[in-house]
Amino acid sequence: MGQDDQTLNLPGKHRPKRGKTSPSKHNNQSTPFRNIVQARLSRRDALRGSLEMAAGTLFMGAGLSACSSDSGNGGETSGGGSDPDRVAQLSFDSVQGVAGEDVNDVVLPEGYTYDVLIPWGTGILGAFPAFNADGSNTADEQNQQSGEWHDGMHFFPINGADNRGLLVVNHESLDMLFFHGYTLDGDGKAVPNRETDPETGLPTNANQVRKEMASHGVSVVEIQRMSGRWRITDTGMNRRITAETPMTFSGPAASSEVLQTKFSPSGAQGRGTINNCGRGFTPWNTYLTCEENFRGYVTTQEDPIPEEKNRYAITNFGFGYRWDGVAGDSSEVDGNFARWDTTPKGNGASDDFRNEANHFGWIVEIDPFDPNGTPVKRTAMGRFAHEGAEPGRIEAGKPIAFYCGDDDENEYIYKFVTADNWNPDNPNRNMLDNGTLYAAQFSEDGTGKWLALDISNPTLQSRFSSQAEVVTYARIAADLLEATPMDRPEWSTTDPNTGEIYFNLTNNDEKGDDAKDRNVTDSPNSPNPRDPNLWGHIIRLRENDDAPGATRFTWNIFAFGAPAGESEAINRSGLTEANQFAGPDGLFFDPRGVMWIETDNGGNAVAEATNDQLLAVVPAGLGGDRTLNSQNQASLKRFFVGPGRCEVTGIVLSPDARTLFINVQHPGQSFGSRPSHSFPAKGNGDPGNLPRSTTLAIRREDDGEIAL
Ligand code: FEO
Ligand code: CA
Ligand code: CA
Ligand code: CA
Repeated sequence: MGQDDQTLNLPGKHRPKRGKTSPSKHNNQSTPFRNIVQARLSRRDALRGSLEMAAGTLFMGAGLSACSSDSGNGGETSGGGSDPDRVAQLSFDSVQGVAGEDVNDVVLPEGYTYDVLIPWGTGILGAFPAFNADGSNTADEQNQQSGEWHDGMHFFPINGADNRGLLVVNHESLDMLFFHGYTLDGDGKAVPNRETDPETGLPTNANQVRKEMASHGVSVVEIQRMSGRWRITDTGMNRRITAETPMTFSGPAASSEVLQTKFSPSGAQGRGTINNCGRGFTPWNTYLTCEENFRGYVTTQEDPIPEEKNRYAITNFGFGYRWDGVAGDSSEVDGNFARWDTTPKGNGASDDFRNEANHFGWIVEIDPFDPNGTPVKRTAMGRFAHEGAEPGRIEAGKPIAFYCGDDDENEYIYKFVTADNWNPDNPNRNMLDNGTLYAAQFSEDGTGKWLALDISNPTLQSRFSSQAEVVTYARIAADLLEATPMDRPEWSTTDPNTGEIYFNLTNNDEKGDDAKDRNVTDSPNSPNPRDPNLWGHIIRLRENDDAPGATRFTWNIFAFGAPAGESEAINRSGLTEANQFAGPDGLFFDPRGVMWIETDNGGNAVAEATNDQLLAVVPAGLGGDRTLNSQNQASLKRFFVGPGRCEVTGIVLSPDARTLFINVQHPGQSFGSRPSHSFPAKGNGDPGNLPRSTTLAIRREDDGEIAL
């Protein structure tokens, strides 16, 4: 999401600054034919890799072996094409950009259509409460409905079916200016129905706070395709996980001092998940939800703010949620409102939640097939503004690497490598508790190093006393080891054909002298060469020997976002009106080798030409060094344009490649005035017809395969 998007427009003093899914391998539902295709692709790439080596390209890991039967993020998925050479060719024509805040429909290539699936407020369990289009549903109803601000998601087939599965969807945030509805005053100005203290800006209505907490988190929704359309069903697995759902901590920080609160004196338990942004998934069929901008929710009145909180940009007001405003309400349970204010109040105090700040910023593992399971916060994977947690290539007998961005200016790219090897015949479902967390350090020569954030390192021992502290304050640990500051790392994705890892770097207008007072001195640096970088770029890395646990890698930049009309110094990939983009955010290789790029362009020059969008490219089909450039940029095509003021995020392909699920987040966002339209409904965002974030199911009218 855009860093400014989540900040409530409040009186000036309260305005803090801001900021793939492959179909899963469910029950070993492999399709032998697909494996053959993948193997052929890999051999072809191995050949190309050798040629690249000869030509002196950056990538050292040329010796690709053919996919083993259980390797590759998508190697096992069913359906798909029949001719591997087709992978090189996208079959649709790039669509025109469309711009305008009032636009309340989407653009798709000819022959494609979409269905609206799971908009905010859709009843998904319990009494299946109907959505009130004026925002007047209660907190209890919201607990049985889809949350708002859909973000990362994944599809888990049930018993390997093409037409039935669990769609698991993140709900990142909400627009407080109309989430509870709004009214128009005599001057036609929008007045939010959120009740707040006019002096402090703090919320005063506990029911509204409970509803806001209920809208965050994750929805697990069973869907089935019937007569060509996907519909919501419920056979007992549908679930809402919210900012109040009990959670367990595991890994090095669990039951340590840094997590102890009045609610959990041992530090073993927590409550809720918030700002659920990108996603990950595991080969043992669990979902990873990524807690991003928790600094918008936990606040402190400490002055000065201690380094451990300041380094995570925790302020006295956050994004204005301030759920602690209703602390002491008769409906409060065990300080569930008070906890959001993390100001120390004395160790004996019933409202001392100084360590609640450390309860967020984690990767949270959810078993979607266990509706009563307790989500687990996997602390070994580190605490920061987690954007995503996509695995690299998964192979039996090898560890699994999960790649994670920390989305803020000048933050780092991380990977977590499991200590254990993946054994598909006897999955270890706690693999995420033991392993090594690394931060990336890029060198100018196109190589890079993974820096282990491990307490055995004397540099870290000089600052921290335990691995619990290292993972909890991972940003500080990565600072000390001099990881490379990046231009806001968002999603990563893994090329199923080559194993290369791609990362979206969404933008950065705060480099060098303007940056936070840290080790950010080399501005611009080689992996982030433009300053300012208002448009973002896509970087690509490859592990040495293609080993998940490698401590060295090679890298180059795949593509630069830019307005089509900019100079070559800015528009380095030669983008045209057919594919100009900015703010790359969501990123997803589908199992066929098509890479999808979703944007959150934040209102720059590209936004004047097109609303946020979804583009597709096949890097393997670009030829040459497979870097997007002015000669081959026509291979990057615009597939979808969203309605006004939305962000396009969240993406997964159905196992048969005939449905592409994407999320439209905050269409018609208010930006301090009023919603600009009512998407997905017709209308202009009137108080009785609010816009809603939603999942869309995109399909071809002839029921053909998407994009190829
Ligand atoms: Fe929630 Fe970094 O996007
Ligand atoms: Ca994002
Ligand atoms: Ca956004
Ligand atoms: Ca973003």
